[in-house]
Amino acid sequence: MSDGQTVHVPLDQGRDYDIHIGRGLLDGAGARVAELGGRAAAIVTDETVSALYGERLRASLEAAGLRSGLVVVAPGEASKSYATYAQVCDGLLAHRIERNDLVVALGGGVVGDLAGFAAATLRRGVRFVQAPTTLLSQVDSSVGGKTGINSPLGKNLIGAFHQPRLVLADTSTLDTLSEREMRAGYAEVAKYGLIADSGFFDWCEANWAGIYAGGPERDEAVAICCRAKAGVVVRDEREDGERALLNLGHTFGHALERLTGYESARLVHGEGVAIGLALAFRFSARLGLCPGQDAGRVANHLALAGLPTRLQAVPGGCGDADAILEAMAQDKKVRDGALTFILARGIGRSFIAPGIDRAEVRAFLEDELRPDR
Ligand SMILES: NC(=O)c1ccc[n+]([C@@H]2O[C@H](COP(=O)([O-])OP(=O)(O)OC[C@H]3O[C@@H](n4cnc5c(N)ncnc54)[C@H](O)[C@@H]3O)[C@@H](O)[C@H]2O)c1
Repeated sequence: MSDGQTVHVPLDQGRDYDIHIGRGLLDGAGARVAELGGRAAAIVTDETVSALYGERLRASLEAAGLRSGLVVVAPGEASKSYATYAQVCDGLLAHRIERNDLVVALGGGVVGDLAGFAAATLRRGVRFVQAPTTLLSQVDSSVGGKTGINSPLGKNLIGAFHQPRLVLADTSTLDTLSEREMRAGYAEVAKYGLIADSGFFDWCEANWAGIYAGGPERDEAVAICCRAKAGVVVRDEREDGERALLNLGHTFGHALERLTGYESARLVHGEGVAIGLALAFRFSARLGLCPGQDAGRVANHLALAGLPTRLQAVPGGCGDADAILEAMAQDKKVRDGALTFILARGIGRSFIAPGIDRAEVRAFLEDELRPDR
């Protein structure tokens, strides 16, 4: 086990918490969870992660004197559904999770969002711990308290803000992650550089392979991203302003996920984000806001790291410009019909751009969809 790093999230009203980052943290998880009090801790996980790490975490919780049990769901985005949410709530109740007990989300962002939402609503709110096991969830989704599920009408439309009491990011769990999921998570890593930290984007260009390989660069990247996210969340927990910047690439990305029916076989979240990041920069360049050179650099880097950067890369296609616009219209970032985008004046210089003209977006998408692109 490495000594690891700790990032503190200093929220008010006693809701502050620590993010522990390091290799091998899972074995000592029980002791850290037990410090939070409560008699039982139920683990919510998916089938894949359960087979890899479920028993190890359960043993650690039991060794620390906590009664524990497992609630296991099918892997993949389709589990962020009403039906699986009901399955998780009933599973937690069957494990006799009471107000003072804990829910531990062990898995990627799907499990974290789903288990967090179940915890937010079970018995009107029980405490929960995030034990993220994908790169995406370690650098992004496990921090900040956004929880929820999808509606057939759009992504993450049913949810609650519910902060975890603790985040345990065991970076050695990423050793078993598929290359595809590693790459998908990397899109969110690069995103932090693109939003507000051009120095970090430079670092990513030089070190991305070390993140994939599990060298010290991996822990470093997770810590840098968690620090950046913690800062944003503390300044703007409810996304009244700055937090929306974290959605860079997501307005396009969420639309693509919706258009591919949340079928992980076709497109996973991070791949949608990668295409979305490239589109956000090309759109910014087209509007004359950002140097075309920067847009090119973003797409080149994402492609080098194995990520898709074009609409044509979506397996099975994603419909025409109107279909994409329609899918974007369900986004939570839509106010009074006008689209809000996160655009950029350059790498590390993103900003919130409300009131973007739909015709402008349609023309851009039509151009992007041209077969010769
Ligand atoms: N709440 C937030 O702030 C926030 C932020 C970003 C993304 N998200 C959400 O996160 C979700 C995507 O998360 P994700 O990319 O982690 O996907 P995921 O949870 O579906 O995990 C990806 C796949 O990897 C498998 N897996 C997980 N850990 C593994 C491991 N250690 N070894 C082997 N396989 C493993 C899972 O079984 C799954 O099949 C989306 O639903 C997205 O909306 C939420």
